[in-house]
Amino acid sequence: MVIRELFAYLWPHKWILMAGGSLGLVGSAAGLAMPLLAKHMVDALGEHRPMGGLLLALTVAVLVGAVVSALGTYMMERTGEGIVLGARHRLVDRMLRLKMADVDHLQPGDLLSRVTGDTILLRVVLTNGVVNSINAAFLLVGAIVLMAAMDGVLLMVVMLLVVVFIGGLTGLIMPTIRRTQKRAQEALGDTGAMLDRSLQAHRTVKANGAEEREIAVISDAATRARDKGLQVARWISLSRMTTRMAMQIAFVCVLAVGGARVASGALELSGLIAFLLYLFYLIAPIGQIVEGLVQLQHGLAAVNRIKEIEDLPTELIVTPAPLTRSEPAGSPPIGVRFQDVVFRYGEYRPIVHNGVTFDVRPGGLTALVGPSGAGKSTVFALLERFYDHQSGTITVDDRDIRDWPLAELRATLGYVEQDAPVLSGTLRENLLYAAQDATEEELARAISRTRLGDLVTRLPEGLDTPVGHRGVLLSGGERQRVAIARALLRKPRLLLLDEATSQLDAVNELRLREVIAETATETTVLIIAHRLSTVTDADRIVVMEAGEVRAVGTHDELVGQDNLYRELAATQFLLS
Ligand SMILES: Nc1ncnc2c1ncn2[C@@H]1O[C@H](COP(=O)(O)OP(=O)(O)OP(=O)(O)O)[C@@H](O)[C@H]1O
Ligand SMILES: [Mg+2]
Repeated sequence: MVIRELFAYLWPHKWILMAGGSLGLVGSAAGLAMPLLAKHMVDALGEHRPMGGLLLALTVAVLVGAVVSALGTYMMERTGEGIVLGARHRLVDRMLRLKMADVDHLQPGDLLSRVTGDTILLRVVLTNGVVNSINAAFLLVGAIVLMAAMDGVLLMVVMLLVVVFIGGLTGLIMPTIRRTQKRAQEALGDTGAMLDRSLQAHRTVKANGAEEREIAVISDAATRARDKGLQVARWISLSRMTTRMAMQIAFVCVLAVGGARVASGALELSGLIAFLLYLFYLIAPIGQIVEGLVQLQHGLAAVNRIKEIEDLPTELIVTPAPLTRSEPAGSPPIGVRFQDVVFRYGEYRPIVHNGVTFDVRPGGLTALVGPSGAGKSTVFALLERFYDHQSGTITVDDRDIRDWPLAELRATLGYVEQDAPVLSGTLRENLLYAAQDATEEELARAISRTRLGDLVTRLPEGLDTPVGHRGVLLSGGERQRVAIARALLRKPRLLLLDEATSQLDAVNELRLREVIAETATETTVLIIAHRLSTVTDADRIVVMEAGEVRAVGTHDELVGQDNLYRELAATQFLLS
């Protein structure tokens, strides 16, 4: 049940929460003492008794009440921050470990809003909401007990009204508030997702003159969030209005019934005054309880959205993924084998690999070529175990990849993605991303091998220059070379390069071909290339088409044997 989840967040903070709550209680108790003292003062005034002691008691009650309440508030806020931190930590931890198949269907902007917005909601409900309600409940009980001591009949009148009213409120209004609040949070998430979409493709948006349209779409989502927020506000106003009315009705009733009882001599005037004061005291806690109930609905909505992510399965990473290179230098290269591999991205998706079979011996350069959509990048995604294949076997170093501990498998592979992403941060951070223990020498070597030296000297702060969000401050080719240098620094036993040289000019491509050839003498290199010039001297070339391997051989063999390859080569002027 969701409410249990809600309390699971509170549990780690129970002690400090209780301490804070108790302080609040002491503060409230000091407050409660005041009407009693006031009654005695009125009585003393009537009987011309000295009031020095009473005044002192009153002063102490005020001071203690104020200081202790302030302390209690601070402790509550502290707990609140702790709860937000805990929730964010859990959520982020979960998000970064999600399976790729789930990540493919999530919107980054929406995820962001869950980490920022929903956790804040959680905080409000768990501190203000729950604690104030509990606090208020004590206050309420205290006031009720004292009121009972004043006059039982009057109390019955008040109780009846309060019970009917709170019951109605929880039964009717609160569930609606919860539902509407969840929709408001969803609309906020949508706004984030839409904004993220436009910001990620800022250049595409501008180039296509789609600013107005994108702005309209985002504003629409924001307006929807506003509308949902207004709906919530209407229900909250309604609940506040009812609270107010109920208290006023109670006041009038008490005045009427109490006046009659004073007239008949059943109650002293000072008793009625004290009772009315307590009634005023009730207003605050009842208001708080109602607010607490409202906030509880907000919190439940937030927990719902947080849970949606927490319920998604994560990858099974047995050992924490090592950030440093796990393999000792000089460890031998490893081979790869695909045997009848069948794979589709989802149950209702078309088959992408339809019995893929090929074999890569340890060491050397193997190329994967074939038309777009043939399933080449998917080979790498399966090797990294971003997705699990449905049948067949994939082995790395003669070991089924399902038997490899995930972190170890990934530490063995170096992977340069097709769109060679660079993270925001400095150039150095990007290069050392997977090899934080690399020496300056190794770094310098990787830079010179990937011909990044010129770039580094040109940049204002050299290696410490920020590269911008996703590396936008670099050129496409520079990004590719950074990604390759990063992969090389990791010293993988199997290097996967996906179109890694597609954006390089002829000179840089030639240079990188040399680097790749050099790397292939130490590690196994598997490269996907559209430009066959990159791979003509590969030790072997695997030709893929429509999810199948149609031929394997060297460039010369394939030109002789395979029509598709010959065609590809001919269009790229590789045949004389
Ligand atoms: N994350 C994904 N979810 C669902 N389908 C996908 C996903 N990634 C790729 N596909 C589909 O799988 C098929 C093979 O994609 P893949 O990326 O392996 O092709 P490719 O051979 O690398 O093509 P290209 O040369 O254009 O990069 C494509 O039809 C694509 O639409
Ligand atoms: Mg691809």
